[in-house]
Amino acid sequence: ALSDIENAKRNAARAAVAEHFDPAARYVGIGSGSTIVYVVEAIQALNDPRIANINFIPTGYQSRQVILKAHLKDLKFDSLPPSTLIDVAFDGADEIDDSLNCIKGGGACLYQEKLVATQAKKFICVADHRKLQPRLLTFWKYIPIEVEPLATHTVMKEILALGATSAVLREGHMMKAGPIRTDQDNFIIDASFQPLLLPVDVQKSGSLHPIQKGMEGKGKAGVWEVRELAREIKAIEGVLSVGLFVGRMGNRRSRGGAGEGWAEA
Ligand code: A5P
Repeated sequence: ALSDIENAKRNAARAAVAEHFDPAARYVGIGSGSTIVYVVEAIQALNDPRIANINFIPTGYQSRQVILKAHLKDLKFDSLPPSTLIDVAFDGADEIDDSLNCIKGGGACLYQEKLVATQAKKFICVADHRKLQPRLLTFWKYIPIEVEPLATHTVMKEILALGATSAVLREGHMMKAGPIRTDQDNFIIDASFQPLLLPVDVQKSGSLHPIQKGMEGKGKAGVWEVRELAREIKAIEGVLSVGLFVGRMGNRRSRGGAGEGWAEA
């Protein structure tokens, strides 16, 4: 039997597919991680013959394997006809805030995930209830950042100068020593910050947000609004992609029943 969390992921995936997957679509993005496996399962379960005509765009090696294992047709991102938009992209996330900003990259696939999300008309983020938090960096403690390996140490230094409380090179799995490599053969730095502010907190700047108040007098506050922090990190030389997804999603949100949770564009 599946654990409660796995059940929540599956329920969220079913709800997302029921509402946002159109079997007549031409291009569908499939993200990475463990939740997306249930999205593909739910698509298969529709048993609609039109699904054989859909081009599924993966966001990395694992994602492509999920597509192929389900006997669906995969199409590389750079084989999309020029200026063609993906009808809908489904993906997981590590954490989602009240404005539907996300942290992604727990599985190191942030770069291709962002490429696909950015090219999609609709981005559907599928996640269990643990991941929905008022502010980012509450449940998931790090922002994954993909860096070109030569720049690892200079990027870490710059991130700490921005006010990160830590910046750690992600090390290998299991028995293997050394840093993990992304699908682009780069490294991941996991950087921790104070929980991030939402634009609405910043608008109320006449009266400081409680989080900011706590940081008064601590020098470089280390308190950031999501979009601004994403921009600052991305601007560092050697950074390929930042695992903060900002402004990809609108203001609407639906949630499933008990034990489920999902966010929609
Ligand atoms: C991959 O790099 C991540 O962005 C994933 O989308 C995220 O980690 C979700 O994975 P789970 O569904 O396994 O939590």
